[in-house]
Amino acid sequence: MKLTPRLEAVANLVSHNAKIADIGTDHGYIPVYLMKNDKIKGAIAADVNKGPLKNAKKEIISSNLESKIELRLGSGLSVLKIGEVDEVVIAGMGGVLISELIENELEIAKKLDKLILQPMQASSELRKYLHKNGFIIDKEILVKEDFRIYEIMVVKYVGGEISQEDEIYYEIGKELLKNKDCLILEFIDKKIREYSKIIEKLEGKEGEKIESKIYECKAKIQKLGELKNYVH
Ligand SMILES: C[S@@+](CC[C@H](N)C(=O)[O-])C[C@H]1O[C@@H](n2cnc3c(N)ncnc32)[C@H](O)[C@@H]1O
Repeated sequence: MKLTPRLEAVANLVSHNAKIADIGTDHGYIPVYLMKNDKIKGAIAADVNKGPLKNAKKEIISSNLESKIELRLGSGLSVLKIGEVDEVVIAGMGGVLISELIENELEIAKKLDKLILQPMQASSELRKYLHKNGFIIDKEILVKEDFRIYEIMVVKYVGGEISQEDEIYYEIGKELLKNKDCLILEFIDKKIREYSKIIEKLEGKEGEKIESKIYECKAKIQKLGELKNYVH
């Protein structure tokens, strides 16, 4: 079985011999791949929808992994009991939904060795939520697939509220900068282009809100430029 670069990068962040839950598993590709390659000792493949779970069942049966991967129907972490798995993967969902799934079952999330999260959008909202609620971001990587750059985070609960010296690090994960991720400059440039486009659209229009939005975008572009210097 060959995973796409995004799913492979997520799977590679799972610890050797862990028991995992893949929340929103869809076809069950991650647990099946990890199990087939003897990288984990067991898995729960969960999804809120019956269709995806049926897809996962097919994959699991065709790989003879029925005794190693359990299927569960339900929302987020609610399908788990405290301490039942070591690590959780939540990939391919929006950042806000991911934070809601954690918030809804906070006691389960707090006890995990780690969560591997791959938001499709709203990653800054997710980082904010995590820090406000005592989860540190231990590691972050970027991965490119079909011209799109995805962010993947490894997080764990340590408690308290984690401070952030600058809001810009909610947008560009600090770990990505520290490790000089090979896609970081491309990623920052993409953000700069997005803010420049917003400014282009707003320029020529009038109003206090528009002016403040333009000001905000310009400030972001400046900060992002400074981050690029930090990486060089
Ligand atoms: C876009 S797919 C991502 C599949 C796979 N994790 C990946 O990264 O390719 C999103 C999956 O999440 C499931 N999902 C959406 N909301 C969910 C929730 N609250 N709890 C569990 N699964 C959910 C959907 O049914 C769907 O199968």
